[in-house]
Amino acid sequence: MRATHFGTSLLLLAMLAACGDSPSPSEEKEAPATSTASDPKDILAALPPEAQPYGLDVYTAKCVNCHGDLGQGIENSPALRGLTPAAMQEKLLAYRAGNPQGAQTAVMTHAVANLSDAEIAAVSLYAGE
Ligand code: HEC
Repeated sequence: MRATHFGTSLLLLAMLAACGDSPSPSEEKEAPATSTASDPKDILAALPPEAQPYGLDVYTAKCVNCHGDLGQGIENSPALRGLTPAAMQEKLLAYRAGNPQGAQTAVMTHAVANLSDAEIAAVSLYAGE
């Protein structure tokens, strides 16, 4: 009985290894992200103050080139002023979804296209006022 079970597990493992692009493992991976906190406000509220350095990391990697190290804006990119973290998060999610904001929406949509919900929340906490 045990030996058979073990054999079945091995077979399953081999099958999983053989078809690495099978949809089931990746679906399992994504499940927790969508099931825990999917409301942007919940994600933002759940972030501890320690998330601030993480937000700085995201900002440094993805935003500083256009908005400057103090959020002062560079050339055609606006200064980041007067947005609360929640308001900035809402804006960034709208940009990521491609919903038109200003005339240069496409620039921002491209800039945040690959950010996760958590990265958007963290950078909003860092860069919001
Ligand atoms: C390639 C340059 C570029 C990058 C990179 C970039 N932005 Fe922007 N950002 C812009 C431009 C241009 C606009 C104006 C877009 C528009 O017309 O709606 C803008 C607009 C914004 C706004 C709206 C400002 C307002 O007052 O309405 C926010 C918030 C913002 N960016 C935050 C960020 C954050 C956070 C990042 C990093 C994740 C980032 N941006 C990365 C160029 C950039």
